[in-house]
Amino acid sequence: MLKKIIRRFKKNPLDEILKKAKEQKSKTFLLPWNRALGDISLGLYYVVNKIKKEIPDSKITFLIREDLKAGFELLGGINYITVSFWRRYVPIDIYHAMKLLNIKESSYDVILKEVDREIVERFYGCGSPIPPLLNGCTVLDLGCGTGRDVFIASKLVGENGYVIGVDMTDEQLSVGRRYVDDVTKKFDFRKQNIDFRLGYIEDLKSLCLEDESVDFVI
Ligand SMILES: C[S@@+](CC[C@H](N)C(=O)[O-])C[C@H]1O[C@@H](n2cnc3c(N)ncnc32)[C@H](O)[C@@H]1O
Repeated sequence: MLKKIIRRFKKNPLDEILKKAKEQKSKTFLLPWNRALGDISLGLYYVVNKIKKEIPDSKITFLIREDLKAGFELLGGINYITVSFWRRYVPIDIYHAMKLLNIKESSYDVILKEVDREIVERFYGCGSPIPPLLNGCTVLDLGCGTGRDVFIASKLVGENGYVIGVDMTDEQLSVGRRYVDDVTKKFDFRKQNIDFRLGYIEDLKSLCLEDESVDFVI
């Protein structure tokens, strides 16, 4: 508890980095990301938005594990380079990876050795507990809101899978619905695989959701 309170009042290290970057007119950023797929929505959006807010014309490149590609493809306005030999839970060395991939240090104004926990944990949203191996599955997101996890799942289940997002708040769903066409095109799917339904988690039968009809529930 005490640790949590102290963390809330401590400055986010990213603020310091961005303050210096602004002073030095830095534009190009290279950051590693070796966290879980769910952390993309949990913390990565926050990190990218914060950099873009402070330095709108910044160019952000991430070095990532290959299994994070699906999540990163959802992010607009950033680049990523995959590091085939990075594995989850195995500590990474960004400079070692840059050397092997022939990436010059001089190509970037700011290189972050790691995006530490404190930076990411400043985002206080919900997580995305989605496993990556969902190809062809039917996924149900209960309380999907505007559909952030629905869109991630859409990519992961692929064209032959299906994602149903249920929420009782029409305003939330209408935001998500506006993006279904764009996302379908972005993923190169011939047909939509997203279905937002207005209703209550407690009464899925009235949304025509039968028992045993989905593979994975978020
Ligand atoms: C905290 S938001 C989370 C939204 C989304 N999962 C996310 O992480 O961005 C919770 C959502 O659940 C919905 N919700 C809460 N209780 C519900 C219920 N009983 N039936 C349907 N939706 C519900 C709310 O309308 C709200 O959009």
